[in-house]
Amino acid sequence: MCARRLESGFQTILFEKRQSIGYVTLNRPEALNAYNVRMRDDLYEILGAIRDDPDLNVVVLKGAGDRAFCAGADLSEFLTAPPPPASRQVRWERDVWGLFLAIPQPVIASLHGYVLGSGIEMALCCDLRIASEEARFGLPEVTLGIIPAAGGSQTLPRTVGRAKSLEMLLTNRWIDAREALSAGLVNRVVSRQDLTPTVERLANQLASRPRLITRSIKEAISRGASLSLTEGLDMERRLAQRVLSSSGALQVIEANMLDRAARFHDTSPL
Ligand code: COA
Repeated sequence: MCARRLESGFQTILFEKRQSIGYVTLNRPEALNAYNVRMRDDLYEILGAIRDDPDLNVVVLKGAGDRAFCAGADLSEFLTAPPPPASRQVRWERDVWGLFLAIPQPVIASLHGYVLGSGIEMALCCDLRIASEEARFGLPEVTLGIIPAAGGSQTLPRTVGRAKSLEMLLTNRWIDAREALSAGLVNRVVSRQDLTPTVERLANQLASRPRLITRSIKEAISRGASLSLTEGLDMERRLAQRVLSSSGALQVIEANMLDRAARFHDTSPL
């Protein structure tokens, strides 16, 4: 389904496409954007369309309302969830987390307020994470008698390391934005009022780059994470070859050479 057709009609998600940027908003502010079954199904549809949309260069994921990006799985559904075999089947058929990781465009998470449980797990499926200074991060699963099931036990240590992950998962210690920054959980922390402008500037910056280049960089890093160095270098060579042999590449290189001085100064804050 074309991403533009998704701009209306979802219960839990808002989707908006502006030029080549797709904005996905978790939209249950009354429940701090808790992730429920409906949201899973809505996200599954939207992420599939985004993945297949050649005109989308960048995706931004954010939460509606003032209080939270996402306060984790919807606890009110815990007692009404379908029996394990049924939910396992749906999970296979609607692998939202696999889909998140399969999106070829760079995905930016815009994080404010509570970023808990599935909220962190969603953010970890994104490529760049910008947080506002009041954001708080935690994985309360241990207190609920469960363990993360949306990739958190795998994506968190790959991002912040083993010790920090074990501390957060075993003790349910929540961390603030500054600590998240120093742990490498987020790329940048800004004031609440600067969050949206910062994310939009970054999204526009990425969207202005040739999509083959941004997608190839993401692919090299994502696929490389599970390869040996030798295999990774091999893959990088193939991707570089693909970029060089693409029709627009030579014009881009030429333009960049001419504009080299300007490019060197392209270090303005996000
Ligand atoms: N699932 C379902 N509803 C949730 C929710 C969740 N994970 N988190 C918050 N909500 C709802 C609350 O039930 C409340 O709804 P109500 O106004 O109809 O009662 C509303 O969101 C606001 O939350 P509230 O608890 O009143 O806000 P608070 O400021 O007192 O506390 C939190 C905020 C995030 C600390 C608290 O809501 C909380 O601990 N949430 C659960 C976090 C969690 O364990 N997530 C699951 C991880 S696996």
